[in-house]
Amino acid sequence: MQNQEIYDELVAKFEKMYGKKPEIVAYAPGRIEVLGNHTDYNEGYVFSAAIDKGTFFAVTASDDETCELTAGDLMETAKFTVSTVAPAKEMTWQNYVTGTFNWLFDGNPAEAKKGWKGMFLGNIPLGAGLSSSAALEMCTVLALSKLYGIEKDKTTMAKIGQKAEHTFAGCPCGLLDQASSMYGAEGALVKSDFRTNGFETVEMGPSVAFMMVKSNAKHALVDGAYASRRQACEDAAKYFASVLRKPVTHLRDVTMAEWVLYRGGLSETTAKRAVHPIGEDERVLQGASLLEKGDLKSFGALMYDSHESSRHWFENSCDELDTIVDAAKAIPEVYGARLSGGGFGGSCCLLVDPTAADKIAAAITKEYKAKYGDEPVCSLIKPSKGAYIV
Ligand code: GLA
Repeated sequence: MQNQEIYDELVAKFEKMYGKKPEIVAYAPGRIEVLGNHTDYNEGYVFSAAIDKGTFFAVTASDDETCELTAGDLMETAKFTVSTVAPAKEMTWQNYVTGTFNWLFDGNPAEAKKGWKGMFLGNIPLGAGLSSSAALEMCTVLALSKLYGIEKDKTTMAKIGQKAEHTFAGCPCGLLDQASSMYGAEGALVKSDFRTNGFETVEMGPSVAFMMVKSNAKHALVDGAYASRRQACEDAAKYFASVLRKPVTHLRDVTMAEWVLYRGGLSETTAKRAVHPIGEDERVLQGASLLEKGDLKSFGALMYDSHESSRHWFENSCDELDTIVDAAKAIPEVYGARLSGGGFGGSCCLLVDPTAADKIAAAITKEYKAKYGDEPVCSLIKPSKGAYIV
């Protein structure tokens, strides 16, 4: 099993803490976003992959309505009952789990009647843009639905996690992170269509891999910046609905030609924000046909274009991420690179020849260190299978 050592540590800690073995353990991976940035909440397209790092959630039923939840790394425990589930201001890590529990019961967890004792532990680096929070939500929803005998399909489970983010963690995210964690497959990309919530997997050959390069950029107001980008996209969609003679509900409905023609009616900033997801949708569709032909070089070029669009139009990049992408461009064994996820810090995703991984990591580290004094963290990522009950 993947990440067996984390599983063993979790089960040992669980037994010590609660005096018995867990009844159910579920696992969910983090994700990388490969192409299609900020398109999910615009009902667009994304290429992503589940990664080989993830989180386990172990749980056993309580005899009464009490719940205990322990973060296996910090060894802090939150206590509540099925009727007192609410967003917490302290030990905020619990919100991903309690929010998921809340929405598994449609906002009425008191209906569960009996509580549970749970603990989670994982190895996804926090703040790296690898969706450790979605992984926690997805292993929680799998384990708790099994515990309570509730049957939900994968997309519904992903939406439960997304609702937990919106209402308990305060991030107005799309569905990308949760869906990637659920639908990931070994050696494959997930191609998502967030209009139909259609998720298909696309095989990647063994001659390519991804490298994540984690910057040390710390950006304040990340959530506010994400929310303001989302708002600008929604404002732009409303505007296009009023000027185009066709139904427009989201930026997915707007073409690049229409943006060029009608952008003058938007404020400069809103126009800049809107063109990013519109261009990203086009790039994902183009990328899909390039992948079919096995043309990785051209696919990589789209990743570089995507980063430029983030940098120039959406302004969700930062100097550190730009430095990594610029350094990557000078290395022939890197096919493409771009920021991955929300932006404003976090990581870049590089499409690489895995046999040159050491050389690539050394070259990027050298450039980064010369500028910032510290080193980024470079790790080779294997697209891996999605969430499951152990
Ligand atoms: C974050 C969000 C996702 C998505 C990406 C950007 O990861 O959680 O829903 O919007 O940013 O593509």
